[in-house]
Amino acid sequence: MVTTHEHETLQRAHDLYAQAEDSQLEYWASRARDEVHWDTPFTQVLDWSNPPFARWFADGTTNACYNAVDRHVAAGNGDRIALYFEGEPGDTDAVTYADLQARVSQTANALESLGVAKGDRVAIYLPMLVEAVVAILACARIGAVHSVVFGGFSAEALRSRIDDAEAKVVITADGSYRRGKPNMLKPIVDDALAAEGHTVEHVLVVARNKEAINWVEGRDKWFHEVVAAQPTSHPIVWHEAEHPLFILYTSGTTGQPKGILHTTGGYLTQVTATARDTFDLQPETDVFWCTADIGWVTGHSYIVYGPLSNGATQVLYEGTPDTPHRGRWWEIVEKYGVTILYTAPTAIRSAMKWGRDIADRYDLSSIRLLGSVGEAINPEAWDWYREVIGDNNGAGTISEDGAVIPGPRKFEHVPIADTWWQTETGAHILTPLPALSADELKPGSAQRAVPGVSVDVVDDYGNTMQDTTQGFLVIRDPWPAMARTIWGDDQRFVNTYWSRFDGMYFAGDGARFDEDGDIWLLGRVDDVMNVSGHRLSTTEIESSLVAHELVAEAAVVGAADATTGQAVYAFVILTEDAEGIDQDTAEATLREHVGAQIGPIAKPKRILVTTDLPKTRSGKIMRRLLKDAAEGQTQADPTALATLADPAVMEEILSGMRP
Ligand code: PRX
Repeated sequence: MVTTHEHETLQRAHDLYAQAEDSQLEYWASRARDEVHWDTPFTQVLDWSNPPFARWFADGTTNACYNAVDRHVAAGNGDRIALYFEGEPGDTDAVTYADLQARVSQTANALESLGVAKGDRVAIYLPMLVEAVVAILACARIGAVHSVVFGGFSAEALRSRIDDAEAKVVITADGSYRRGKPNMLKPIVDDALAAEGHTVEHVLVVARNKEAINWVEGRDKWFHEVVAAQPTSHPIVWHEAEHPLFILYTSGTTGQPKGILHTTGGYLTQVTATARDTFDLQPETDVFWCTADIGWVTGHSYIVYGPLSNGATQVLYEGTPDTPHRGRWWEIVEKYGVTILYTAPTAIRSAMKWGRDIADRYDLSSIRLLGSVGEAINPEAWDWYREVIGDNNGAGTISEDGAVIPGPRKFEHVPIADTWWQTETGAHILTPLPALSADELKPGSAQRAVPGVSVDVVDDYGNTMQDTTQGFLVIRDPWPAMARTIWGDDQRFVNTYWSRFDGMYFAGDGARFDEDGDIWLLGRVDDVMNVSGHRLSTTEIESSLVAHELVAEAAVVGAADATTGQAVYAFVILTEDAEGIDQDTAEATLREHVGAQIGPIAKPKRILVTTDLPKTRSGKIMRRLLKDAAEGQTQADPTALATLADPAVMEEILSGMRP
């Protein structure tokens, strides 16, 4: 049986696909007009006269913050909850759109009082707090470009991002809570700014865990003090559609992270449209929860801009899924009546490992749609996610007089939107729209492009694959939320994404079509690893290892891991200075070193000290053999082995990897 809602959504999706099929540009122009408030309406849709530097809706003006906040208040929805904040220790805050408008306005005034002007860069290094959303939106409001740095990055990583963007202000917190303990951020900012030569004039500090911190007079200011002194209104100024909205750094194939630049109008159009279409978002009734951190693109597009621009109600949770117990997420779903949950396969696999009886203790019947992002979701996790978390086609609750109060608008089966996209794409690119009926969904496949985006799988020469074997995922035409460039390095933007195939965007992912023309993602084809949905560069970790005095040479690989998707394995040759240092000491020292240089997420799961690395006769490291060894193979592939200058090295490595 098809529910009425399913029928309506199906019809709507068909209309969207059909409209986009007719004319991609017309489609995006109409979405831009429908989903975004413009002060000066645009007359140009796309300027692609200087590829790959796109300009969308370029003669229009808008304001991303106005769209995310003020327009909902103006429409009479000021009392609607924008954010249900849940702190790890259990403290809560319910922020309405009117509250958000006041808080964002005060913060915008505060930034201006510190001399931040349109075009200036502001680094945001915050935990998952309401202030993170407020700070982002305040920047957007005044046209300052935010550069959010994930709280798990080290002082060095933070400093390199501050320097690259030449940030004038850093917004941080004393610290937050993680697994019940204080997790300090301010000391990391202090370290990052310890050496001279940076551009930071002010550090604004949110008081969160109230632990003692060091204070630099003149530079450091309490966020609440600076903000509270400001008026709660702030006049909107309109920005050109191509005004830079944010920079977000991401790992590439070389050591240096890339500052991906997104601009205002096109980005906002596509995140608003896809938040609505992919999740069937109904702002009046849904409670949306995206579990990503605000430091990643998923948090930017599907916590801050997409859902808020739709006027939705969301949950924002500070902590980890297992604090103080492993049912915390499901407790939150029950408490707030979450209807749409958007998370990563790695989190689902952890929950699976902990056992379904934990989730079964909670009432998850409010859930009507699930989303997945960050890596391909394996079919076992997909099935579990749907069955244990999503299978809730209950009729809703029973009132005191025995009447059934209908639950949220239901589908016959809870759909799963497996969304493929990237920091660079800004918004969803591939996903089955929830309108697809249950038997059309394919566990493990992101299936098809969203309306208005032309995705293809091509061979080495850029020709569409004619069979179902592996090719490369590309995007043929520009799309509104596409990255505009790499901050300060146009040439690198061209080289990285637009040079492999003539006139096409190359994503770096392998993919294949199936017999129905649906797309299956097959992982990165470059040196980028995906650990718990986080992008890490093998080269960046290798460079960090080699920078240590103990290390002469290093090779890093991403090996398959049952929980995190991939895990980092490093193989190192020590220098002569390291004589007498044993395996365990070297491993512990180097793990700490990588953690300090890049961040705890980059720490290798194992670092094996070896006397040599498997190299071909031309000196190239055969990483595939190392990957096999890390994945537990006990014998090296003889064909690959035959290409090595010294095949004997693999014996040492294989025996070193044995448990
Ligand atoms: O390899 C793809 C993988 O994550 C990469 C993008 O990482 P990032 O820019 O950090 O953005 C992550 C969140 C959007 C892609 O190149 N990836 C992301 N989502 C999926 C995926 N791989 C397969 N299926 C997905 N749904």
